[in-house]
Amino acid sequence: MQRHILNAFMREINLEMKQVFEVSFVCLGNICRSPLAQGVFESLVAREGLGDQISTSSAGVSGWHTGQPPDARMRETARQKGIQLNSRARQFKPADFDRFDLVLAMDQTNLSALEQMGGALDKKLRLFRSFDPMNNGDLDVPDPYYGGNQGFEYVYQIVARTCPKILEFIRPRLAPLK
Ligand code: 4NP
Repeated sequence: MQRHILNAFMREINLEMKQVFEVSFVCLGNICRSPLAQGVFESLVAREGLGDQISTSSAGVSGWHTGQPPDARMRETARQKGIQLNSRARQFKPADFDRFDLVLAMDQTNLSALEQMGGALDKKLRLFRSFDPMNNGDLDVPDPYYGGNQGFEYVYQIVARTCPKILEFIRPRLAPLK
């Protein structure tokens, strides 16, 4: 079954039982940073055999690219690491705070926008790089959209080392299997 169909199916069941932990990565356009985080995190979740317990998605605080696939440069960077990006851009909505268990803002401007939508920091809402073991106090995943290819590789390096730490945070919060 294709992953997006499976995810939609899991969401339906989850409405009834709330057994699945739902995480969303959020950036500005939902075509560069958050789709990469979604793809890397999904592949980690699958590798750890947690695909039926964690649902992963992404969104943008803007609706500028709604319906579009990830940026070709981001897809190419991910492809070189063995990760396929399949998301379509969607805009984050205030009601999404009811649905998601964890919302991860890719930078502090995204965080402010999410706070204005009613998100509360350190409850469901956190900064992605607060989990980065090498953040050195820099809490933004830099926006690569207007830069060169090295910006996309740099985003990948941040995302690749941070996703396992996010999974460590989520793991003890998963519902016990029935
Ligand atoms: P993202 O990058 O927030 O990582 O998806 C951007 C994508 C598009 C734009 C800005 C940032 N834009 O200005 O259209």
